[in-house]
Amino acid sequence: MSTVESLLSAHLSAAFSTLTGVMSDPQVHRSARADFQSNAALALAPALGLSSREVATAVVTAADLGDVATASVSGPGFINLTLLPPALNRLLGAMAADPRLGVPLVSAPETVVIDYSGPNVAKEMHVGHLRSTIIGDCLLRVLRFTGHNVIPVSHIGDWGTPFGMLLERLVEIGEDSGSLSIGDLDAFYKAARHRFDTDPDFADRSRQRVVLLQGGDPETLRLWKLLTSESARYFMAVNSRLSVLLTPSDFVGESFYNDQLASIVSELDSKGLLRQSSGAQCVFPPGFTGRYGEPFPLIVRKSDGGFGYAATDLAAIRHRALVLGGQRVLYVLGTPQSQHLEMVFAVARQMGWLDGVAVKHVGFGSILGEDGKMLKSRRGKSVKLIDLLDEAVARAGEVNPSTATAVGIGAVKYADLSSAMVKDYVFDLERMLSLHGNTSVYLQYTHARALRVIHRAGTSPRSSDLAIADGQPGIGSPDAIAGGLRIETPQERALALALLAFPGAVQAVAAELEPHRLAGLLRDVAVAFTRFYEDCPVLNAEPGIRESRLVLCDLTARVLAQGLYLLGIEAPERM
Ligand code: ARG
Repeated sequence: MSTVESLLSAHLSAAFSTLTGVMSDPQVHRSARADFQSNAALALAPALGLSSREVATAVVTAADLGDVATASVSGPGFINLTLLPPALNRLLGAMAADPRLGVPLVSAPETVVIDYSGPNVAKEMHVGHLRSTIIGDCLLRVLRFTGHNVIPVSHIGDWGTPFGMLLERLVEIGEDSGSLSIGDLDAFYKAARHRFDTDPDFADRSRQRVVLLQGGDPETLRLWKLLTSESARYFMAVNSRLSVLLTPSDFVGESFYNDQLASIVSELDSKGLLRQSSGAQCVFPPGFTGRYGEPFPLIVRKSDGGFGYAATDLAAIRHRALVLGGQRVLYVLGTPQSQHLEMVFAVARQMGWLDGVAVKHVGFGSILGEDGKMLKSRRGKSVKLIDLLDEAVARAGEVNPSTATAVGIGAVKYADLSSAMVKDYVFDLERMLSLHGNTSVYLQYTHARALRVIHRAGTSPRSSDLAIADGQPGIGSPDAIAGGLRIETPQERALALALLAFPGAVQAVAAELEPHRLAGLLRDVAVAFTRFYEDCPVLNAEPGIRESRLVLCDLTARVLAQGLYLLGIEAPERM
């Protein structure tokens, strides 16, 4: 099934091409003026030596829109399109009968690697990891749903010099002391850092420990595994609290690339990209400069011989492109790491690893406290992710214990996914949990409300088990459903048009990697349903109208459930 936009485009493009001699995309989009609008006449007019109004008028006159829509020219040359009832019914019928709710599978599936979450061993996950985890999970769901082969990777910080002090600390306190248990890792990290800073002997032992670790000393590796596996357990606890789809096999830590780092350096060298700079081995990709305009290095090997974050990222990008076969590699990471990533991309291109591979930094802004500054706890420390989640669930539980997790976690995720990604946003639980705002609880409530109507009608609800990745059997023939539809009031029509925009919104997220496009559509559907519900009786409507309205309720519940699923948010049956 095609989207409404593509149906209308197909009808208009013939008229455009008779006029211009070339096929052009009429770029039909939703509009507040009419149902839909095409602005293509404006762009084409100069080449044709006509005014854009003339072009639009000629297209409208020539277009054969059948029973699909009526067209008229407005303003400087916009073509306004209004769907006619038969087409509206056919489109809704097809959508209702389709387990995928009209969302097409891509014709050319790609292998897409998404790097997200990426917490660090023996360190608390912070709110930056929260955003990365939530956004990455949403992109994974959407890209998978549209048919791509998605490989999630959590690039965990599990290697490097800090492990010297961490392992020494572990030796010092004894591995059975209980300090390694879930939730205490942060305190453990801080204690290790304190010992390192205040005791020169400890610092010495830590440096030796790094050498042992890098040399593969069995006892040191055993301790290291203890630490990393305890951290992995902790990350999984947070992931399952967030109900994101990451599993332990998606954790590919920095250590995974260890034995590739030396060959990365020699490859760079053989391509002539390596330069010595203050004892370190660096690459200077063109176009990157420091604060004073001087060439800026990507440090591959530090002067002490150790490999750093950048070397690992070079090995990782090579692996993703050449071994995993990624055709697209996405990095969901805060904007402060933008320069680092762009340099890694540039070097990987210079090395020829990215032929036919698209790489992209999907950047995001910060989460701010209510004072508008970076979110900090009352004691000025950085806020623990798990504490925020617990508080959200506790607050949601005060209203209804049985939906506490769905509502609390949903609120945190939705607040994140509904705002434009590059923007900072304020973490305000009060607002996030409000029933009267652009919140997930409003969507969840609307979903439950639509389901309740269906239950009360005695129709079997299909929506509850719809939140699945691949859809489920359809519910009747498109024509049969369309034939029974009677979309007559403005409220019904507005709801129908909002529902029909679902496939386009999912496709927009897949193309632009901006989850707020889908959040916005779900919000539109919920608002339209609320108006419909308030003004149009369903169960007491006359026969015929009743069934037609039940189809709208059913589609609303299914679109909200599937849409929330794609955002990673639960849709409880009852609220
Ligand atoms: N561990 C890093 C951090 O906490 C994030 C890793 C992101 N991924 C990457 N390939 N560099 O900031």
